[in-house]
Amino acid sequence: MATCALGICDGSGFLYDEATNTARDCACRPQMIARNRARGLAAVIPERYRDVDFDRFPVTEIDPKVVAATRRYVSRIDANLDAGRGLWFMGPVGTGKTTLAMLVTKAALDAGRSAARYSLPGLLSQIRKTFDTGSHNDLLERLVAVDLLHIDDIGAEQTTPWVLEELYSIINARYEEQRAVVITTNIMDRDTLCQQITERTVSRLTEMCDELPLMGHDHRLDLRIA
Ligand SMILES: Nc1ncnc2c1ncn2[C@@H]1O[C@H](COP(=O)(O)OP(=O)(O)OP(=O)(O)O)[C@@H](O)[C@H]1O
Ligand SMILES: [Mg+2]
Ligand SMILES: [Zn+2]
Repeated sequence: MATCALGICDGSGFLYDEATNTARDCACRPQMIARNRARGLAAVIPERYRDVDFDRFPVTEIDPKVVAATRRYVSRIDANLDAGRGLWFMGPVGTGKTTLAMLVTKAALDAGRSAARYSLPGLLSQIRKTFDTGSHNDLLERLVAVDLLHIDDIGAEQTTPWVLEELYSIINARYEEQRAVVITTNIMDRDTLCQQITERTVSRLTEMCDELPLMGHDHRLDLRIA
């Protein structure tokens, strides 16, 4: 149960006036919002990407056109999420795809929206675990309900019919509910991607997302040399 940090309200962050049947903010509310936000960021954004910002390295080094498109998306995050519009970062290893996708996920959380973030291999192993506990439908429901679903590394997974079906059912459910996804892939060629994750899934993602291609070399190598 939540409690009021100042011992004033019932922990809801609101004070109710029964006489007038109105609610007003408790003095603890700003603190409470900040705490919830920090908790959300910590749960969703991995340590390496926690401080990503448009004004900071490495975003300042990434293709300005792609960064500008990301910034535009983020500046209208509420409208984009409401409309189920997403972004698809594609490009070779180490070109900043996950970094930019994290900016979007962070912006959603900052705007008070719900977001979940997985690598596709990680998501699939979560799904496998739910079969032991019988919570498969709960997880799928959550994956559809969240305002923004960020899936990294689509197409990197060893595919089996089971993997393809799970991915398809998640993407299709969000497609039907008009809910936004942000994804990253290493595969630039559409035919190759269709072979990897099925044409049905690629077709839906194409409609749901603006494609943002990133070029260049693996910048992890620069960091190692430096
Ligand atoms: N354009 C860039 N200039 C300099 N450093 C960069 C650039 N893009 C990414 N980096 C750095 O390279 C590393 C990899 O970035 P990131 O994880 O965003 O890459 P990615 O495209 O998602 O790679 P992968 O395909 O392997 O998942 C990070 O340490 C990041 O800071
Ligand atoms: Mg990545
Ligand atoms: Zn309070």
